[in-house]
Amino acid sequence: MYAFANVLLALLLIYACKIVPKKTRAVPQNYDVFLSFRGEDTRTGFTDFLYISLVDAGFLVFRDNDALPVGKEIGSELLQAIRNCQIAIPIISERYAQSKPCLRELNEIMDCHTKHRKSVFPVFYKVDVVDVLEQRGIFGKALREHRRHCSSRDVQNWELALTSVAGIRGWTSQAIANGHEGELVKMVVAKVSSVLKTRWIERLLIFSMLMSYYRIRSVYLYFSEKKRSEVFLAFHGPDTRCGFAAHLCSSLMDARINVFKIDDPSLIGKNVSSEIRNAIEHCKISIPILSENFASSHWCLDELAQIVECKKTKGQEMLPIFYKVKPSDVKELLNSFGGNMRQQKKLFKRSKYKQWKQVLREVGSSKGWESGKIANGHEGVLVKQIVKKVLRLLMNPQTHDRSITIH
Ligand SMILES: *[C@@H]1O[C@H](CO)[C@@H](O)[C@H](O)[C@H]1NC(C)=O
Repeated sequence: MYAFANVLLALLLIYACKIVPKKTRAVPQNYDVFLSFRGEDTRTGFTDFLYISLVDAGFLVFRDNDALPVGKEIGSELLQAIRNCQIAIPIISERYAQSKPCLRELNEIMDCHTKHRKSVFPVFYKVDVVDVLEQRGIFGKALREHRRHCSSRDVQNWELALTSVAGIRGWTSQAIANGHEGELVKMVVAKVSSVLKTRWIERLLIFSMLMSYYRIRSVYLYFSEKKRSEVFLAFHGPDTRCGFAAHLCSSLMDARINVFKIDDPSLIGKNVSSEIRNAIEHCKISIPILSENFASSHWCLDELAQIVECKKTKGQEMLPIFYKVKPSDVKELLNSFGGNMRQQKKLFKRSKYKQWKQVLREVGSSKGWESGKIANGHEGVLVKQIVKKVLRLLMNPQTHDRSITIH
């Protein structure tokens, strides 16, 4: 009886929601998509293609056609458009950060993202995401320039906005279809469509009610659990992304093993660092690929630290690969590991450095594969061995796991 009353109430509410906005809709438009871009960089090129494709697909898109006068505060109309849009797409091009209006927009967008969980799908257009993240190169130069004329608080906010937007998984133009922008535009439109076309269902009160009344929730959780990655690969991108790590990843996937891939399209708009933490936390097996420059990246070192932690606390499997390095390099910080860790010592807090050093010692002492020693360095053979081992581990869960389920 209660259920029936609730359903009625929900239907009434939906009906009411449908009527009310109609009266106020006339002036401030509620856009589906807000495009933030540097006019001089992409207005007549990429942004125009994207705009037209989104409009053709039936979406209401805001793009600012009259560049804001320099130094003017961000207009209230623009603010409204950002706040009310469903999805914001900042197109971070090379000279984006040279423009104060762009940075103000970005600041507002990221504010809405953190405070109101607004969807942000960034396009990194012909730029290196790490340059945006750490404000290096042309981004560093642009901010140094602003610091001379603008309040330090503004500049600080802009730096924060750049760091946050680069922490969200987006599209990197150069990496998609060898830089063919038509493909990129298609991907963005497809993502926007899939998000906006499914969003209405979540708004329906009846949806959440169904989720609790029937066992939909547990079924839903069951499926999302199923989709979780079984294997996490930790590797240093520039060393092995296009080589060994890519081969290993595709061989594992060919064997129907679920591997976490940060470039999975479903992760667009998600927080990169929390997705990675989640993936490590929930995987069954992690495979750190310790290559020459692994220790030059604090991200790699942090991932490795979490992997070792999960191995200890949750009994996860860790299968290290010493890729063209010796375990003793890792364990005793010799050769490239020595040089890179000396660098890290200068850059990071002592406690962090000590943690990483300890982690490397542990991993260097663990059993793993030495790429150079397997079939004279023939990597195809090594990959086969790894896939076999992973399959065996996944099919025969460790004995202590089984004892838990039996009792
Ligand atoms: C992403 O998550 C990390 C913590 O995992 C947090 O510190 C950071 O602020 C988040 N970034 C954004 C843009 O929400």
